[in-house]
Amino acid sequence: MEVVILPGSRQIASLVSDAIQALLHRKPDAVLGLATGSSPLPVYDELALRHERGVLDFSRAHGFLLDEYVGLEPGHPESYREVIRRDFTGRVNIAPENVHGPDGSAKDLPAACQAYEAAIRDRGGVDLQLLGIGTDGHIGFNEPGSSLASRTRIKTLIEQTRRDNARFFPSLAEVPHHVVTQGLGTILDSRHAVLVATGAQKAQAVHDLVEGPLAAICPASALQLHPHASILVDEAAASSLKLADYYRHSYDHKPTWQGL
Ligand code: GLP
Repeated sequence: MEVVILPGSRQIASLVSDAIQALLHRKPDAVLGLATGSSPLPVYDELALRHERGVLDFSRAHGFLLDEYVGLEPGHPESYREVIRRDFTGRVNIAPENVHGPDGSAKDLPAACQAYEAAIRDRGGVDLQLLGIGTDGHIGFNEPGSSLASRTRIKTLIEQTRRDNARFFPSLAEVPHHVVTQGLGTILDSRHAVLVATGAQKAQAVHDLVEGPLAAICPASALQLHPHASILVDEAAASSLKLADYYRHSYDHKPTWQGL
């Protein structure tokens, strides 16, 4: 696991975009794991900008969403399918049919979850999985207590997560209680996991993820098992890290050929 502490979200966005740019140049039909939430927005802005400038071509790329609400009708403005279209995929030349998400409106949810796992596998797996982190340490919608080996499935949201996400809905009552999410095991299968976190409200979760024990109480700590995880944080989100100086030193002295 590599922890990179940067001054702010612009620098984080630039570094993630460099990694995605290098990936797409190496593998134009790469599979990107897409996250919603506010943390990845500067990354999507930077990718859209690079696309406009002709630096980035997504025409052969694929995207797989991490998660989706259960029970929102297809096309609902807050469904993650719609959110990711507005925030990212609708702003670049990725083919709409190449953007996939778990089906939260399926009648048979377990079958839809299995089909989603199969779709990821059939595409050859996720090359780069972008992640945010919830204040309770969730990634995707894997709430505390999630099995570290879990696959795509239905989950019940913790009230704090519903409250955190209520800002996107007319009222708290309209935030669904249920979601479908890639499991921690699914996320661990990605070739490169890139988690971004900014702001003091994420400091505890970032500490638990990086320096806490590997434990289901902090689902993001599962990334300690990932062979290639990059944790990109600003100073505020890094403020509870015990080994912050070591992470800074390592990054400052990193061989330039290594990349993210
Ligand atoms: C939601 C998403 C997560 C995201 C989290 C944090 O719960 N399912 O993927 O990481 O929110 O969101 P934000 O980046 O807005 O703090």
